[in-house]
This record gives sequence, structure tokens and C-alpha cells, in this order.
Amino acid sequence: MQYDVLLRHARLHRRADLVDIAIKDGMFVAIAADLAQATATRALDVEGRLVVPPFIDAHVHLDAVLTVGQPRYNATGTLLEGIQIWSERKPSLTHTDVKQRALEEIRWEVAQGTLYIRSHVDVCDPNLTALRALLEVRQEVRDICELQLVAFPQDGILSFPNGRELMRKAMELGCDLVGGIPHYEWTRDMGVEDVHYAFALAKEFQRDIDCHCDETDDPQSRFTEVMAADTLEYGWQGRVTASHCTAMHSYDNAYAFKLLRLLARAQVNVVANPFDNVVLQGRFDTYPKRRGITRVKELLAAGVNVALGHDSIMDPWFPLGRGDMLAAAQLALFLCHMSGYEEIQDVLDLITTNAAKVLRVQDRYGIEVGKPADFLVLDAPSAFEALRLVPARLHVFKGGREIATTTPARSVVRRASEQDGQTVHFHP
Ligand code: FE2
Repeated sequence: MQYDVLLRHARLHRRADLVDIAIKDGMFVAIAADLAQATATRALDVEGRLVVPPFIDAHVHLDAVLTVGQPRYNATGTLLEGIQIWSERKPSLTHTDVKQRALEEIRWEVAQGTLYIRSHVDVCDPNLTALRALLEVRQEVRDICELQLVAFPQDGILSFPNGRELMRKAMELGCDLVGGIPHYEWTRDMGVEDVHYAFALAKEFQRDIDCHCDETDDPQSRFTEVMAADTLEYGWQGRVTASHCTAMHSYDNAYAFKLLRLLARAQVNVVANPFDNVVLQGRFDTYPKRRGITRVKELLAAGVNVALGHDSIMDPWFPLGRGDMLAAAQLALFLCHMSGYEEIQDVLDLITTNAAKVLRVQDRYGIEVGKPADFLVLDAPSAFEALRLVPARLHVFKGGREIATTTPARSVVRRASEQDGQTVHFHP
């Protein structure tokens, strides 16, 4: 058989031996220890480097990306000032403005191997300008990236004028998922109603749910339990994601124990956002300052599916970032104390297989015969080294087509006695 692409000597995550991977008509058609006799239009010897399925950004705000400093920088760095600045920027959003920034940021993510993105879109806008723009973007980027859009009520479903109607309109226009923001509603009761409304709307439109939930340090913010209870009530197991859940960081352990079991039972996914969580939470603390990120390690141990998002890239909440999910994973490793050897292996899952479960794309995701040939070649031999080095994504393939390439940086040190110097490889 003549293949289109043949990858030689690839390392797969959690597999000891090297394999050859054959691709034909955009699909993986053979994965074996040695396909040396095979011929292909393009043969690529990756020399033992790690080959993984695409990274997934399970939570980002493409309507707000790349707006940092517009109309002003966030002086306090807080979540609330970020929301205030965003409300000042929102009236000047235009269709072209949103599309250009979103398309640019998607290029950043694709260049670094992220080929699936779930974006929340603020629908607290009577014109739904950002949503209309991102619906077009979702269609336009299909050759490089699969985009899911969540109807996200930044200013509340009940606390914003016509919030319910705007959410419904967003779903009618074609949002993939229903969102929510219970902890931000004016009262506890309104927060509970926010969740109930999201579930009723999801049932009506037969859609999945992804709510910003308990994104605060307030240990009294307890809406994730409402999401879990509604999941069981509606039979929506596996279709619901609670994003952020930073209050879980501050719950007492007895309550957290109860909640973890409930989330596992309801098969609610949790998405943590290490950059924004550590930057935005703990802002009312003196010392010690809480990290804010949810209990990733404990959730995993309890059998809850956890994934990561970048959340912000140069916006009013997080001024930095370049859309690199591997960097987000490395930060999560630090913040969540997942530095045990096996835990480091698990961290890679947070931006790959676990996230695929959140987005419910497992039918077409993974390096397996019969699935689309979507994969990355990392300039590292293992997950351990990938998380240590955050190396270049040398080759990014989608459907058997190479859609991005990166040439790794090269450092040279020259001693006084050396004219040409020696390359530094950063390997012991
Ligand atoms: Fe968010």
C-alpha cells in the first residue's frame, strides 16, 4: 500500500515502544512497531519524539481576546475591574473587530497545536454583535480548527435586562452550548434560578451546558452542587461542564468531600483555567494568598473528568498570554502540586483526552486507526519532557494535512576558547 504520510519512530503517550504511523486519505490507517517496508508520498522520521492528538482549549473568550488596554488597562488586576472595563469596551465592538481578533488568536492557538476550541461568547448585548461575528468565524476556520460556542451571560441571566431572552436568541442563532454565571447574579436565589434556566434552555434546544460557576474565593458560593443536582434531574450526565469552580479551593474539606462525590455521580466535567484563576483569585487576601484554582488533583482522584482552558489572552482580565495550552498545563502542574511522576503524565491528559471528553469529540479524536489524522509532533521525547520544556510543536497535522510548522529556537554558548560555540540542548 502506498500511504500519503508515514511517520517513523513516533513515541505515543503512555506507550513504551516506538511506532510507525501511516496515514491515507486523511485518516490513520496503520499504527505498528515497524512499517519499514511501507512507502509513502511523504516519510517523516520523528526520531523518538512525542506524537500526541491535538491540544484542546476547553475554555476561552474569543470575543475579548487581544483587547488589553482598550479603553484602558486593568489597574487593580481584579476580576471585577476586568468586567467593568469589558462593559466599557463592549459598546465599541464591531463585527469586523471581533472577527479579526478572534481569527488572529485562533492562528496563535493552531500554530501551537490547539485544534479544538470552546469559546464562551458574551450575550449580554442587545445586538449580539460578538456572537454573530463568531458564528461566522466558526464556519471560516473549519479547515484548521473546530470551534464550539457557548452562550455566556457575562452580566447575568436574571441580573441583566432581558437576560433570558438574549440567551434564547443566542441559542436560536446557533450557539452550540448554553452557559450561565450563577455566582454573579445579585442574590443566592437568583443564582439558583440562573442554573435552572440554563438547564431548561438546554433541554429545549437539546444542547450541552457549560456554566461559569463559583468563580470566586467565597466559600459560601455553592452553585456547582445545583448544577450537579440538575444534571441528574434532567438526565444530562456527561453533557455538563462547570467552569472555574474556584470557590472549591476555599470550601472546607467536609463539604468538598460531599461535592466531589456528587460531581462524579452526575458525571459533571470541571474545567480549570490556571492563568486567570491564579491571577484573579486571592485578591481579597493579604497573606497567605490563595491560589484560587479548583481542586484538580482531588477531582481526578474522585473520578471527575477535568480539563483546562486558557480563558483569557491579552484581555481585561489577563493582560499576558500567547494562547499556548501546553504552558497552561505546565502552570496547572505547579499550582495543583501535580509534580509526582505519574501526575505529570496525567497533566498532559488535561489538554488532550480529558478535554476531548468535555467537548464530546471522542468519536473523531485520538491517534487510532480509523480516526482522522489529527496530531502534533512535539520537540520532546515524553510527556515529562514536554511539560518541563514547553517545546516547539514541530509539525501540526489536521486530516492528514500539515497545517502548521515551527522551527525550534537554537541557543549557542561561546566560551572564550571557542569560536563557533556549543549548542545548548537543555537535556541533562
Ligand atoms: Fe471564563
